[in-house]
Order: sequence, then C-alpha cells, then structure tokens
Amino acid sequence: ETRPRVLSGIQPTSDSFHLGNYLGAVRNWVQMQETHDCFYCVVDLHAITAGHDPEALRRRTRVSAAQLLAVGIDPDASTLFVQSQVPEHAQLAWVLSCITGYGEASRMTQFKDKSAKGGVDRSSVGLFTYPILQAADILLYQADAVPVGEDQRQHLELSRDLAQRFNNAFGKVFTVPAPYIVRETAKIYDLQDPTAKMSKSASSPTGIIDLLDEPNRSAKKIRSAVTDTGREIVFDQANKPGVSNLLTIYSALSGRSIDELTTAYDGKGYGDLKKDLGAVVADFVAPIQKATHAYLDDPAELDRVLAIGAEKARRVAGATLAAAYDRLGF
Ligand code: ADP
Ligand code: NA
Repeated sequence: ETRPRVLSGIQPTSDSFHLGNYLGAVRNWVQMQETHDCFYCVVDLHAITAGHDPEALRRRTRVSAAQLLAVGIDPDASTLFVQSQVPEHAQLAWVLSCITGYGEASRMTQFKDKSAKGGVDRSSVGLFTYPILQAADILLYQADAVPVGEDQRQHLELSRDLAQRFNNAFGKVFTVPAPYIVRETAKIYDLQDPTAKMSKSASSPTGIIDLLDEPNRSAKKIRSAVTDTGREIVFDQANKPGVSNLLTIYSALSGRSIDELTTAYDGKGYGDLKKDLGAVVADFVAPIQKATHAYLDDPAELDRVLAIGAEKARRVAGATLAAAYDRLGF
C-alpha cells in the first residue's frame, strides 16, 4: 500500500448524522477512499466522558456504522471499525498519558470549553485526557494525515508532539501525522438560526436535518427555515445567511453550482426554492435511508462487517503497540 494513510473518527452521540456531519465531514471520508488508505473509526470510547446511557450508546454505535456504510464507505477498500473492539486504543492511551505533561494537557481549550458549564470539579478525568486517547487513535495506525477542522487543530498538534517525544525518548515507533486540510467542505448552519452551525447539541430539532428524517419532516423543516428580509435569491453569507445556507445545501446535494442555482431562481421566491430543496433532500436521502435500514435490519451482517474491520484494525494497532511496549521495556 503506497497511498498515504488517513485516520478519522466520529462519535456515536446521536441517532442519525445530520446534514452538517455529512456535508462537513463524512462525505469527504467517502471521497478520500479514492486517494488514501483510510481507517475510519466509530469512537465509542470517546462518547462516555460526560455520562451516557448504555442502550443509547449501543444503538448509536450501530446506526453510525450503518450510516457510514450506507453513504459509501466501502469496508473492502477502507478499514471501518468500532474503537472499543480494538483494545489497543485504551492501552496506548495509558502509555501516552505518562509522557504528557499535566500542564500541557491543561492547556487544551476544548476541555476548558466543555468543562466551563458544569465546572472543572464536576468534569471527568476522561474528558480531561480525551485528547490523549485521540492521539492513541491516530498513532496506532501510523497515520500520515488526519482531516481536521479548526476545533481539532490543537489536539492534532498534541498527537504530533507525543509521537515525536516518544520517538526521541525510546526510539522511532510512530509516524508523525500531518493535518489534512480539506478544501471545499461545506459549513452548514442551523435552519432556525442561520448564524449558528447546525449542531446536534446546540440546535433545536427543527434547526437540524437528519439523514434519517422522513421526507415530509425534512420538507417541513425547510419550509419553515428562517429566511431573510427581501425576496431575492442571492448568495450573501453576511446579509442573507438563511438563503445562503439553503443554497449551500442545495448545491452540495445536487451538484449544481451556486451560480447556476441563483440564475435558475432569478425572479422566483423563497417558497419555490424551499419547495424544490425539500424534493432534492428527499431524493438524496432516500437511497441512504434504504441502505441504512438494510444494515440495521440485518444485525448479523453488520456485526460481521464490523468484526472484519476490527480484525484488520487490530493487525495494524497490535503491531504498533507491540513495538511501543518493546521500546518501553514491557
Ligand atoms: P455536532 O456539532 O452536531 O455535535 P460533531 O461535533 O459530532 O457534530 O461533529 C462531527 C463531524 O461533523 C465533525 O467533523 C464536524 O466538523 C462536522 N460537523 C458538525 N456540524 C457541522 C456543520 N454544521 N457544518 C459542517 N460540518 C459539521
Ligand atoms: Na460538536
């Protein structure tokens, strides 16, 4: 295998991916299969840092895997697996935690943000050490590249530092991963508040379109999306965030450029745009929903695919951990 290796993970924290997850991240995973040796992981260990419901976790882990397969992650071309099925993640995380400075970990801004609400004293140590587990996820697979958004840059920087630190102290074991800056990922905004990003945790249910939403439901959400004063259908993120968001979604799902769309809707109203976008969304999600349900309705098949993925992942992760243990004197 000579293609660069990439590692990416997604948390099983909701009952469906929403359009933001898909257009901002997962769609790119599908495309990277053409150019990279891809390891994709449903990071369920990361999903228990702030309390969780075991049944929901089990269900969401399966839905996430089924949706990844449904949108086009090819389990023969890529390695698709569930993090908790590969014990090396937790094992390497411990090792890395022992070469991470307490002050260094304390500087992670995501922990500061996430712990701000309940207070540091009420946060779990797991939330604090989350970036170290993330470093283990990446370093186990000798990933050359990791797709990162702005919010994950600091964590990737920590992964790079830990790889270099280990290699310098004990001998070269880890590839130092580079950030893979993805061009052209769409940022999708909340339908009810088009200045905030569409988010499962922050948006209201009507602000989000889930890939598993019934067509009537998503069409209704689009019809009631907040639009801007005026009637012209133009792309103007600053002054017309609502219409711009609808155009972004329309363009991404239909493959038509924004220019093409604004020309086509010249002289038409918001109602026309919303009605057509409802149909575009319904057409787009129909085959994805069908494929997702096919996996969920055949649990043995989904288990089989994930077991093969875990086995492929463990071959790589096991070799890396063995090399690290050897250097460490275990
Ligand atoms: P959420 O913000 O809904 O909690 P996550 O933080 O779990 O979603 O994000 C999973 C992936 O989806 C990340 O790679 C993130 O960058 C991407 N993503 C989430 N929301 C959006 C959005 N509104 N637009 C673009 N990408 C998004
Ligand atoms: Na988030």
